[in-house]
Amino acid sequence: MEKIVIEGKKKLSGEVNVGGAKNAVLPIIAACILNDGENTISNVPDLADVRTMMKLLETLGAKCEYADGELFVNSKTIDRYKAPYDLVKTMRASVLVLGPLVARFKKAEVSLPGGCAIGERPIDQHIKGLRILGASVQLEDGYVSAAAEKLEGTTVPFDLSTVTGTENIMLLASLSEGETVILNAACEPEVVDLANALNLMGAKIEGAGTDIITITGVSSLGPLRDYRVMPDRIEAGTLMIAGALNESDLVIKDCRFEHLGALTGKLLQTGTEIEKNGDSIRVRGSGEIRSIDFSTLPYPGFPTDMQAQMMILMCVADGMSVITENIFPQRFMHTAELRRMGADIKLVGNSAVVRGVAEIRGAPIMASDLRASASLVLAGLCGTGRTEVSRIYHLDRGYEKLDEKLRSVGAGIWREKE
Ligand code: EPU
Repeated sequence: MEKIVIEGKKKLSGEVNVGGAKNAVLPIIAACILNDGENTISNVPDLADVRTMMKLLETLGAKCEYADGELFVNSKTIDRYKAPYDLVKTMRASVLVLGPLVARFKKAEVSLPGGCAIGERPIDQHIKGLRILGASVQLEDGYVSAAAEKLEGTTVPFDLSTVTGTENIMLLASLSEGETVILNAACEPEVVDLANALNLMGAKIEGAGTDIITITGVSSLGPLRDYRVMPDRIEAGTLMIAGALNESDLVIKDCRFEHLGALTGKLLQTGTEIEKNGDSIRVRGSGEIRSIDFSTLPYPGFPTDMQAQMMILMCVADGMSVITENIFPQRFMHTAELRRMGADIKLVGNSAVVRGVAEIRGAPIMASDLRASASLVLAGLCGTGRTEVSRIYHLDRGYEKLDEKLRSVGAGIWREKE
C-alpha cells in the first residue's frame, strides 16, 4: 500500500488540467449495455472506479479496452446478468447496471450495496422506478433480483432527488415502450451528460438538467461513437480550493465554469479571487480568508462532494463557519482526522461548527472515503511541516494523479510505500 507525503505551506502557481468526470463516465459505461455494438468513449479518466466498472461489464461478458483516456466497450458478447457482491462492495455505482440489464435482457441480479463510509445509502427509489415501469423486483440473499416481460413507460415520481436513481430509470426507460416522465429528477450535469450520450445512441430524452425528464422509449439503440465525457466539476472544485489556500495562484484548465456556480459564489465570499477565461478558471487565494456558512444541496446547490474540501478552507479562515450536510447527514469522517491536525471542529447533528485556527499542523492521518481523502490532502498542503495520508486507495478511486498534478504547480507532495 502507498501513502501520500506532503510538506505543507507551499504557494502553488501555474496551470493544471481537469480530467473527465468520474460520475459522468460511470453511467455512460453502464449505458453501453443497452446496445450490442462497439462503443468508444474519450476523455475517460484513469481511475480505480473506471477499472471496476470495466471489470463489472467484463463479468457480464462485454469486452473492454482502455488506453490513454480512450475506452472501448464491445457489448455484443454480454451473456450474464449478475453484478456480484465482490465488485458492488468496492463501488456503489455498480447499481447503475440494473436499469440497462433489465432494459435489454429483461433480467438482472445486482448485489445490494452494503454500508458506506458516508452514511446510509438506500436504493429504494431505484427499485420503485423499476416496479413502476413493470419489472418485478425481489430482494433475496443480499441481491436485488429483477425481471420483466414488458416494460411500459409511465410517470415515475421520485420522493427525493437521486442522481444514480434518475440515471437508472433513464437507462431503463430508453428501451421501454411509450413515454416515461421522471418527476423530481436530479438536475446534476452528470445526468445531462448521460442523456446526451444516450441520445447519440438513438434514445429520445428531453428535459435532462431540469426536474422533469421525458423519455420516449425506442426499440433498440446503436453504439456510442467517440463520445467525449464532460470535465469533472468536483476535481475542478478541489483544485479551486487548492488555489484558495496558501495565497496560491492557479489556473485550472479544461473545466466548465457554469457547473461551479455554488462553489464559486462561496469562494468569492471568503475573499478568494476568481476569474473565468474561456474554459479556464484562475483562482487567487487571499491572505485573509473569511469564514462563511454553507449547506449542501442537490445541484445547482453546493455539492456534498465538495463539503470536506471546503471545510479545510474554513479550518484556516478568520471566524466561525457552520457547515450543514443535507445530502449525507453523517458525511463527516474527515473531521476527526482534521482535528488531529489542530482544527477546531464540533459536530452538532448534521452540522459542523468550524472555528478558524491560526495554524494547521502536519500529522499522520488516514483517509476514510474519496472526498474525505481529498480534504486531507488539502489539509496537508496548508499544514505546517509533514503530513502523511494513508489509505490513499480511496483517493485513487476518483482523482487521477492528484498528487502529480499538485506537484506540477509547486506542491511538496509525493508517494511512499507504507
Ligand atoms: N436516496 C434514498 N433512496 C434512494 C436513493 C437515494 O433515500 O433510492 C438518498 C440518499 O441516501 C441521499 C440522497 O438520496 O441522502 C441523494 O443520494 P443520491 O442517490 O443522489 O446519491 P448517489 O446517486 O448514490 C451520486 C454520486 C455521489 C454524490 C451523490 C450526491 C455517483 C456515482 N455518485 O451518488 O458521488 O455524492 O450523487 O450528489 O454519481 C463521490 O463521487 O464521491 C460520490 C459519493
